[in-house]
Amino acid sequence: MLSAADNNLLTTTGPGTAMGALFRRFWLPALLSRELPEPDGPPKKLRLLGEDLLAFRDTNGRVGLVDPRCPHRGANLYYGRNEEGGLRCAFHGWKFDVGGRCLQATTFPQDEKYPDLLPKLGLHAYPVEEAGGIIWAYLGPPDLRPPLPRLELLELASDHRFASKKLQECNWAQACDGALDTAHFSFLHMSVGEDMQSAATMSQSEAAASGDSNRLRWMRDDGMPRFSFVEHPAGVVMGAARHADGEDLYWRISQFLFPNHALVPSTFPGETYHSQIFVPIDDDSCWIYCTSWNPARPIGPAERARYEAGHSIYANVDADYIPIRRRANDYLLDRDEQKRRSFTGIKGVSEQDQAIQDSQGFIADRTREHLGPTDAGVVRFRRLMLDAAKALAAGHEPAAAQAAEAFCVRGGGAVAHRDVPLADVMRSRFGDPAGLISKNGNPHV
Ligand code: FES
Ligand SMILES: [Fe+2]
Repeated sequence: MLSAADNNLLTTTGPGTAMGALFRRFWLPALLSRELPEPDGPPKKLRLLGEDLLAFRDTNGRVGLVDPRCPHRGANLYYGRNEEGGLRCAFHGWKFDVGGRCLQATTFPQDEKYPDLLPKLGLHAYPVEEAGGIIWAYLGPPDLRPPLPRLELLELASDHRFASKKLQECNWAQACDGALDTAHFSFLHMSVGEDMQSAATMSQSEAAASGDSNRLRWMRDDGMPRFSFVEHPAGVVMGAARHADGEDLYWRISQFLFPNHALVPSTFPGETYHSQIFVPIDDDSCWIYCTSWNPARPIGPAERARYEAGHSIYANVDADYIPIRRRANDYLLDRDEQKRRSFTGIKGVSEQDQAIQDSQGFIADRTREHLGPTDAGVVRFRRLMLDAAKALAAGHEPAAAQAAEAFCVRGGGAVAHRDVPLADVMRSRFGDPAGLISKNGNPHV
């Protein structure tokens, strides 16, 4: 459990909060690239860490992320015209470029003072970078702006990766809690079919998310995995070990990366890797950016179509990335299905996660929890974030923000003898105890 003060610290990220300051030391996904599909297309409203912003793509394809209020008299630039080289306010025609610079202030006479005036009339704009199909934003102090984290996703050609997102109607931290609590798969995502094969076909996404029937069986039979950790400069490796067959353990190894990434623990060699990034919209909701990458082979059309339709970490979403099964319709819970076939009666691994995380409240009350050994990953994540936010408030910058190279890590599944510790499981699975991918490529795909 947490104290009320720590729960508040963990979950509030608006301007002026300690956790908000920590988030503002890192690059955060602001939009998918495909949400601004064309030069001079419609601008896009968004809310990030409690700040209302406006994004637009200019004639040259560059993206601007700006304060939406026009400095003339406060009209919202969302209604503006995205014209040659900038966005023009629809009220009286002031025009701004992607850096927020005022190009024309049409209500002032263009005399010799005009060039001196323009620099004073700009919009606040945040730095933006585009990589991996995602538009990344940095909302922190300009002099502390770090390089983009070197995520493996960003290293690969576009045919080897996929990215989408889904709305989550609760606080970012409990969604991240849920992703790092890998023990819950033994219950939340399980089927209640008679045999494992029918159980696996009953829920395709469940079977695919967990690999094969052995993995499903090991997860079903051991609902109390034992956690081990390996800390590294970008975050922490979280290994959860279940009994497998004979003297072996089945390891599901996730990673938490600062400040909001959770790597999916299920991937075996050759399979596709996945990660979720939890981005606060405000304190009651977040976008979960879902990313997948496969260093061994391109992600083909059939696999992409599955992700687009809702599969594994991907929800079935509408054109605005809002899940079809959501709070407002109780996730289309089917009680008959729950009685006969699936533990929840809710279709989709992602929607099962979403339902149960939303059900903890818009902001979970962590003062009333009773945490046990299988909550060790959740405890570690919260402690890292709370310690980093408190340290920053005391004047100590988070080292992870500048450790871009350390973010190129993998998590995944492995089977090993019960005497092998996590660091050695990581070495044999990924070639490095932190799962770090060498710059020269890595044979452990
Ligand atoms: S309010 Fe934008 S130009 Fe007047
Ligand atoms: Fe889950």
